Amino acid sequence: MIAERNDYRQELVREMSSSFPAPPRKTERISQEEYYQLVEPYREAMTRLEVRMNGLNEDYRKKYRDYPIHNIQARIKSRKSIEKKLAFRNLPISAYTAKDNLTDIAGIRVICYFVEDIFSILSLVKTQTDLLILKESDYVHYPKSSGYKSYHMVLGVPVYRIEGMQYYPVEIQFRTLAMDLWASMEHRICYKGETPDETADAFRNYSAELSEMERRMKHLLDEVRKDNPQEPMQ
Ligand code: GTP
Ligand code: MG
Repeated sequence: MIAERNDYRQELVREMSSSFPAPPRKTERISQEEYYQLVEPYREAMTRLEVRMNGLNEDYRKKYRDYPIHNIQARIKSRKSIEKKLAFRNLPISAYTAKDNLTDIAGIRVICYFVEDIFSILSLVKTQTDLLILKESDYVHYPKSSGYKSYHMVLGVPVYRIEGMQYYPVEIQFRTLAMDLWASMEHRICYKGETPDETADAFRNYSAELSEMERRMKHLLDEVRKDNPQEPMQ
């Protein structure tokens, strides 16, 4: 249906461009109104998922006296970023193409303490039968060549309207605090820019060093726990 609409749209654009000069760049935009309409259900899906993640964290605390999640961040992709990504992929810039092609319009980032926590919370997410797993990438065990580590998933979250239910994709990134420090600094200093080789090398080393530091801190925590097994965590 949407594909048909796109064909029709492309035909219209072709027809128009044969009889008119190329439209000014201004028309290659998603209007503010279209943007709000586009993101509204994504915002709902994102909020639902964030609430669910907080609930799972709370359940985990009750059961194991421990919090795997340190904090959660949520964001809706800005209109400019959507337009930029569609342009980068050589796609027509419209709300239709955004809905058809982008799976990161809604995104949540779940920051955990340790690697083990990522996989504990992940196994809980996988028991949620109403959520569809649309994509999964394990950059924790298989880091990117940059040194980037995180566990990525695209989840289909049901959103109910009077017309019925539709799944909306929400990108979810699970990371530890150390991975988040690395990604935030690397994003600021190098990501998608011209990076000198020495800087890129330094970041590859930092990634390994941070993982090692995190592992040692986990060891310290395990030692403390051994001596205070009944202590509930903050
Ligand atoms: P994007 O077009 O960047 O969204 O990439 P993608 O759709 O191919 O997905 P991918 O899993 O590669 O990356 C998705 C997101 O992960 C990015 O938007 C970043 O937030 C993060 N990311 C991926 N690789 C890196 C990296 O090397 N450095 C940093 N800082 N973040 C990264
Ligand atoms: Mg992205």
